[in-house]
Amino acid sequence: MSKPIAVITGASRGIGRAVALRLAAEFEIAAVARSRDQLDELRREIEHAGGVCRPLVADVTDPRSVEGVLSGLDAQVLVNNAGVGSIKPFMELTRDEWRQMVDVNFNAMFDVTRAVLPPMIARKSGHIVVIGSISGRSAFVGGSCYAATKSAVNAFSESLMLELRDSGIKVSVVNPGSVTTSFGSGWSAKSWALSAEAVADAVAQVIATPPNVLIHRMEIRTLTVPKK
Ligand SMILES: NC(=O)c1ccc[n+]([C@@H]2O[C@H](COP(=O)([O-])OP(=O)(O)OC[C@H]3O[C@@H](n4cnc5c(N)ncnc54)[C@H](OP(=O)(O)O)[C@@H]3O)[C@@H](O)[C@H]2O)c1
Repeated sequence: MSKPIAVITGASRGIGRAVALRLAAEFEIAAVARSRDQLDELRREIEHAGGVCRPLVADVTDPRSVEGVLSGLDAQVLVNNAGVGSIKPFMELTRDEWRQMVDVNFNAMFDVTRAVLPPMIARKSGHIVVIGSISGRSAFVGGSCYAATKSAVNAFSESLMLELRDSGIKVSVVNPGSVTTSFGSGWSAKSWALSAEAVADAVAQVIATPPNVLIHRMEIRTLTVPKK
């Protein structure tokens, strides 16, 4: 029997890649990102372990690109993970950097989520997981736009959860602290930060709840941050 499909955006590296590998035992992975070579490498790794992975090359900020790869896909799970960050003082941020963060981190939720929702609504089941950030609740210097986008995705996720819960569709937001990935510019991963695999485990736990149980918001941090 074929496995249910999990769509993961930003699956070419970092947290998205770790989520794809973590979910591949239970789901057929539909891996979305712009980097074809990295998606092909992910597909090989998943297939080597006995799983199925479809690399879907798309720019989540381009509605036609999203529609082209996601329309008609009957997904059980969507992990809205793709994200970018230009972490710098507000007066040094360029308009392009601002727009890119808003487009990838927030506006892309519109097209990606709407592309996968119709079959979930028809089936009365599905799970949308959004990767936010603790910065959505706890601002920091250099995060004027980034933290604002993550605050927006938390509000989006809660509103959508309230709207869809009676249709049998779960919406969750996972808010990690620092993670050791190649994320962003002006952001340096700390040696003590969470691994991408730890975040992937959290996503898997959120998805694995019984049918009538929803973990809507999860914050995941490293336990001990060294004192400066
Ligand atoms: N790292 C942290 O400390 C941290 C902490 C909290 C939350 N987060 C959040 O976690 C998520 C993943 O971040 P990460 O740390 O794994 O970063 P990463 O290693 O830089 O990965 C970012 C992913 O997003 C994809 N992406 C970026 N722009 C895209 C676009 N226009 N279209 C399609 N895909 C796009 C990239 O793929 P391509 O470049 O191949 O398109 C890549 O797969 C983000 O939402 C981030 O805000 C990160």
